[in-house]
Formats: sequence, C-alpha cells, structure tokens
Amino acid sequence: MPPAREKSARDLLDFYLEAGVDALVGEAPVDRFAPETAAPPTRTPQPVSLPPDLEIKGRASPPAAPIAPDEAAMAARAAAKTAETLDELRAILEKFDGCALKATATQLVFADGNPKARVMFIGEAPGRDEDIEGLPFVGRSGKLLDRMLAAIGLDRTSVYIANIVPWRPPGNRTPTPQESAICLPFIRRQIELADPDILVCLGGPSAQTLLGIKEGITKTRGRWFTFNTGKREIRALPTFHPAFLLRSPLQKRFAWRDFLAIKKALAG
Ligand code: URA
Repeated sequence: MPPAREKSARDLLDFYLEAGVDALVGEAPVDRFAPETAAPPTRTPQPVSLPPDLEIKGRASPPAAPIAPDEAAMAARAAAKTAETLDELRAILEKFDGCALKATATQLVFADGNPKARVMFIGEAPGRDEDIEGLPFVGRSGKLLDRMLAAIGLDRTSVYIANIVPWRPPGNRTPTPQESAICLPFIRRQIELADPDILVCLGGPSAQTLLGIKEGITKTRGRWFTFNTGKREIRALPTFHPAFLLRSPLQKRFAWRDFLAIKKALAG
C-alpha cells in the first residue's frame, strides 16, 4: 500500500477506535436491528487486506455465513437443555457458534461469584474490561456494584453474577433483540442450574428480556416480579444498572432503596 494511503487507513482506524469501533466483522454493513424477515446481504464479504500490525485479532478471512436468528435461537434452546451442571453449560456455550458476537469478542464471559449464592445479579452484556478479563462486572460499573453490595453486607462470595449476553458486543453497543433472544435460553438455564432464591435484573434490558416486561426501568425498578426458573417461582427485582448510576448519581438514592429491599428479602 502506498505510504499516503496507509497513513489515511491508520488515521481512519484511529478514528474508529476512539469511537469504540474496535472489531472488524465484515465489509458490508448489516442492520442488526432490522426485522428478522429482512433479506440478508447478498454480497459475499471479501477478506480485508490491512498492514500486518493493523490486523484485528488475526481475522484475515471472512466470517462464516451466519445462521438465521430463529434457527440459532432453536439451536440455543436445544443445547442449553442438555446442560446438567453450570460447568457443562459453560462448555456448551464455549462451543456454540450461533451468536455472531462470539466472533468479535475476545472470550466468553460466563459468570463470577458464588454459584451457590441465594441471590443472582444479571446485567446486559460484558464491556471492554470484562471481555479482557473473562469475568462480568470488573470495570467501572463493576467497582460500583461491588461497593453497593458491600453496603448491604454482600460480596462476590455471597452473590452470583452473569449477563444476558455472554459475549461483548463490538464497541460496547447494546445487544440487538436477536442477539439477546439467541442467548436467552442459556441465561435461563444458568439461572435454573444456579437456583437462586432472588434474581436482581441490572438495568432495563436485563429486566425486559428476563421478565418479559415492556415498561422501562424507571417504572419497574423497586417492584418485585415473579420469575419462573422452570423448577420453581422465585422473586425478581429490577434495579438501575450501575453504569447508569455512574452517569446519573442522583438516582443512587433509588438504587439504595432497592438494595435495602434485597437485604430484607435475604433476611426473610
Ligand atoms: N455491564 C453489564 O451489563 N455487564 C457487565 O458485565 C459489565 C458491564
């Protein structure tokens, strides 16, 4: 590549990186929010040629053709059902190729904490720090979550933590409804196998996906819902996501009420 073109390519990549676009998935844009019936792009993605030091995660060849979201969700349901333990579920997820996020993520972010805990917290999807460490909630919002847990006498030995989507969406974007639907059978099975007494949904997307509610988190936080694990009914509480609390610290007073309610429920 001529030096001037290489410099422009580097500048453009720097610009993308700063904007949070740090993974290459193909040449043709894909609208992942489009209705499922939309026709998939017909152009076969070609390998993108970059200078060797600009190769992103060694992806020289185009990704395998994605399976349709419906088919992937069906495969996820069938695969999740076969897991008899959390370790088996993790191994099944490691091999599952139905969610395109796996191709751009560094690794699976399965869970942290104590799987025998009475309370399970569920976020939306891993971010950059979680993708690097392979553990949920280890970045800035995780540090806040740890402080909130400590305030009610809990820590990662007394809670179990996971996400709806166990792979980081590129650039920390919100997972699409299709991606969440594909991962839902796995997190549902994870809850069933961990068998907590109380579920805490961190943020609107987690609450909406797990509890099947349409209302936003401002309306639903602090209200107890019932969640059927497949084995039994347990109590579920939506609360604000710690990342939101970092941006809107005034809302922490409501989250504090929710955490006191969790403490009370665990004591009861
Ligand atoms: N936000 C989430 O929803 N989950 C994480 O693991 C980290 C940040």
